[in-house]
Amino acid sequence: MKDIQSIIAQMTLEEKAALSIGASAWSTTPIERLGVPEMIVSDGPHGVRRVPDVHAMALGSLPATCFPTASCTASTWDVDLIHKMGEALGEECIALNVDVLLGPGANMKRSPLGGRNFEYFSEDPYLAGEMAAHFINGVQSKGVGTSLKHYAANNQEFQRFSISAEVDERALREIYLSAFEKAVKQAQPWTVMCSYNKLNGTFASEHHQLLTEILKDEWGFEGLVVSDWGAVRNRVAALKGGLDWEMPGPQERRVKEVVEAVRSGQLDEAILNESVRRILRIVFKARETPKTGNFDVDAHHELAHHIAAEGMVLLKNNGLLPLKGQHHIAVIGRAAENAHFQGGGSSHINPTRVAVPFKELQAQAANAELTYAEGYPTDNSFRQEMIDQAVTLSKSADVAVLYIALPTFKESEGYDRTDLDLTDQQVALIKAVAKVQPNTVVVLNNGAPVAMSAWIDDVAAVLEGWMMGQAGGIAIADVLFGKVNPCGKLAETFPQKLSDTPSHINWPGEAGKVHYGEGLFIGYRYYDAKEIPVLFPFGHGLSYTTFEYSNAKVSTQSFKDTDGLTVSVDVTNTGKIAGKEIVQVYVHDQKSTLVRPQKELKGFAKVALQPGETKTVSIQLDFRAFAFYHPEYKQWITEDGDFDILIAASAADIRQSMTVTLQSTLSLPCVLDVESTVREWLADPRGKAVFGPYYAQMEAEARKMFGGDEERYGNEGAIGMDIMEMFNDMPLFSVLMFQAASLPAHPEEIVSGMLQQVHNMP
Ligand code: BGC
Repeated sequence: MKDIQSIIAQMTLEEKAALSIGASAWSTTPIERLGVPEMIVSDGPHGVRRVPDVHAMALGSLPATCFPTASCTASTWDVDLIHKMGEALGEECIALNVDVLLGPGANMKRSPLGGRNFEYFSEDPYLAGEMAAHFINGVQSKGVGTSLKHYAANNQEFQRFSISAEVDERALREIYLSAFEKAVKQAQPWTVMCSYNKLNGTFASEHHQLLTEILKDEWGFEGLVVSDWGAVRNRVAALKGGLDWEMPGPQERRVKEVVEAVRSGQLDEAILNESVRRILRIVFKARETPKTGNFDVDAHHELAHHIAAEGMVLLKNNGLLPLKGQHHIAVIGRAAENAHFQGGGSSHINPTRVAVPFKELQAQAANAELTYAEGYPTDNSFRQEMIDQAVTLSKSADVAVLYIALPTFKESEGYDRTDLDLTDQQVALIKAVAKVQPNTVVVLNNGAPVAMSAWIDDVAAVLEGWMMGQAGGIAIADVLFGKVNPCGKLAETFPQKLSDTPSHINWPGEAGKVHYGEGLFIGYRYYDAKEIPVLFPFGHGLSYTTFEYSNAKVSTQSFKDTDGLTVSVDVTNTGKIAGKEIVQVYVHDQKSTLVRPQKELKGFAKVALQPGETKTVSIQLDFRAFAFYHPEYKQWITEDGDFDILIAASAADIRQSMTVTLQSTLSLPCVLDVESTVREWLADPRGKAVFGPYYAQMEAEARKMFGGDEERYGNEGAIGMDIMEMFNDMPLFSVLMFQAASLPAHPEEIVSGMLQQVHNMP
């Protein structure tokens, strides 16, 4: 590694400013005289979009493997597999002369309407964090960097360049930052990309708390923070906030602005030096891996095929699948001929080759005859004659397989969806075909949930094929014919209808703000709390075999939070063919001072089983599996008490449960203050010790004052209410104000005296 400090010491102010801003759409500014090379970055995340001319944003990217997008990879729940995908991406970066791949995306799927949900993993931060961390470790194991994006609270496309995400601190920590935190701590991405939006009124690109205090200081992020492309409004404010590298370039005016800000004293040069240090560190690190050679196109296509097969989710099956013995298969839907395997926008890859779903089906269909009808047009027009043609074909067939892709005019980076629906034509097509053909299978290609209530009951089976990558067409055929036993499970809930979704009444915001009114309760956390039935729950996915869970154990019944514990369960394949099961562990806190979701995913494992085979699955639960973020303490805390450990096949299918008792090792500072309520005083051990002895006296005084006469009224006083129900939720100070005349001192003195005593206690 170069002596970075000595290079910085030799750099002119102009050179430092220039280094802090891109030289082109995709590269850093080289400084030849000091031997500082350029560094090249490219999109990401599920393929390498290497534009040969670094001054062009999008034209003519080089062929690269288009792997399945994040909705599909997350549905594999397979951390080793996503690590392998990362390794392959790293190899392609080396061959295509890319130093840093711009991905993965770890944003939460707050609403299924998010146009870019296909690029994100999950509605659950634990799962998204695991996937992101293993992706990063895979890529970086090859000596190529990543860019964890879009940090933070970029959960919609509507006004994404300007809108302010209004998120409370706890939801931010537990939901929106948590996957980023996990990925940073477990994998140290070389770069983190800030998002376009504002967070609680401040642009993410200038957000000191986000970029410096949390990311760098608290989580220990060592890399550089890069802006999303065009996300910087005020370069000097962004540097002060902790944004090291602005993209894209070149921007001569901006460079001058930085120089002038230092000269005028508006910007401390030490801040610029720190950004320069971080950039140089990554630039030189990138240089350690020579960018030469080729990548193995065939092997990567095969890997993309394997990932797609593992990520597809069999949502419904009445027993028709896997197909066998059919003589005539009607293949309906233009996605059978024109594979819909990736999303629109910056992640759009120029694939090395594309598996055509129809051909792949044909290749595996043995002696069956396949016929094809397009079924729906490329645009949003309604074409009855296409439906009629499909119906005629389907009627005479043994089975109809419909390939239905959500069109890009409905789903892409850059705009959100306005509904959860397929096009009118697609819905009418499915219904018309299902009416004449009971053996109808729907294969979906989309990046996020679609509504199905209009047709789900009419069809025999539904396979969620996602944006399945360039080889996904083979994977669909594999699953339909049973060459692969499906094992993917949903990384997000499929709601019944849009109005059921957590953010519905706060989406997509107005007047420049979007309020995250549902707080912690996104995804299954919300449906659990509201007892809203869903179409398919988080974690759901069918198999051609069956699994039984038994013999659940915990390593200890009672444990310290710092020790954590191990959960184990035996899983048996009780069917006739080999299969894989994804075991999920959720934790439920029986009692807590702050509201908590009914259950939260805290561990998972995927296990492969031959028919009749049993394996024991073990999952570790650590401090964070039981903790929540307490905004008053400004830290993650645990509380003594009982927790249920739920071992499940999906969020709605809990197979085994156990209760354990946690002992918190934290000694928390006292947060009682003058606004603390009577109940809060009593709930705090130190508060209770100081104030508890006076409670009965205070109550008696209150009841007397409000005409409480147990014999006459019971607890009801003269004004027809139980005054203590109200007083207990008032600040102690306010209650005492009612009794001021009978007190030995003014309530202010009394409360501050008690606070003093509390704060002096050990
Ligand atoms: C996207 C990023 C992408 C960048 C460069 C932006 O518009 O939000 O995800 O990496 O462009 O293409």
